[in-house]
Amino acid sequence: MSDGNTRAAIVTGASRGIGAAIAERLAKDGFTVVINYSGDAAPADTLARKIEDDGGRALTAKADVSDSEAVRRLFDAAAAAFGGVDVLVNNAGIMTLSPVAESSDAVFDRQVAINLKGTFNTLREAAKRLRDGGRIVNFSTSVVGLKLETYGVYAATKAAVETLTAILSKELRGRSITVNAVAPGPTATDLFLNGKSEELIARMAKMNPLERLGTPEDIAAAVAFLVGPDGAWINGQVLRANGGMI
Ligand SMILES: NC(=O)c1ccc[n+]([C@@H]2O[C@H](COP(=O)([O-])OP(=O)(O)OC[C@H]3O[C@@H](n4cnc5c(N)ncnc54)[C@H](OP(=O)(O)O)[C@@H]3O)[C@@H](O)[C@H]2O)c1
Repeated sequence: MSDGNTRAAIVTGASRGIGAAIAERLAKDGFTVVINYSGDAAPADTLARKIEDDGGRALTAKADVSDSEAVRRLFDAAAAAFGGVDVLVNNAGIMTLSPVAESSDAVFDRQVAINLKGTFNTLREAAKRLRDGGRIVNFSTSVVGLKLETYGVYAATKAAVETLTAILSKELRGRSITVNAVAPGPTATDLFLNGKSEELIARMAKMNPLERLGTPEDIAAAVAFLVGPDGAWINGQVLRANGGMI
């Protein structure tokens, strides 16, 4: 990895939720960060300003990760701004819950396009372009282990991400690049909270022995460990960050 001042990290889906907490944490840890998003620019711009006000360095970059050309441009922008890329955090993702029998083609296709193909698109660029000594962190979910009803399509996309993680970690042999996945449990963001009743949220918060929801900062801390000096020996693994739920 290059020296502390110039290590550059792309965080996909970093305008809100877990991704925003990761961008903020990595900036505090000395990375220059690329805040990727696909929709509204305003939250990404606000976060970039906050990071800069706190003495960090950040760039925003709009790109739908399911679009391979847009992903190529995202890496081009990062390389142009920072001279190269050292870290990729593949956080962007969506979740639509539905029993298999009631899942439409659109529900299936969109989750596969963003969660699986989006991760593949960025991994392919990273495999070719990450500087030696770099780090990649993908995003799975603890539901891959729990296997809850209605999570079928979503969890299947993330199970595929776990498989890609292990295989890419081997394909990058000789370049000192680690590839891992973080698999959060229920975490207090729009993705988890939207559409759930207070009662269901409280019940899911108690599924782990610490009896609370994860925070975006909890998950950012796990990512910071994997991309920081203390995570150097962890490779090809899935870290379930869920308070002990499974
Ligand atoms: N929250 C949980 O309980 C939980 C549990 C397990 C795993 N996870 C995983 O953790 C990751 C982050 O989830 P979250 O809870 O922070 O979600 P979130 O609050 O819904 O935020 C999602 C972020 O991804 C961006 N995004 C969505 N589609 C995108 C696309 N096609 N291209 C680029 N960016 C895109 C969104 O920005 P725009 O709207 O601008 O696109 C936003 O910044 C996901 O991979 C999710 O599956 C979350």
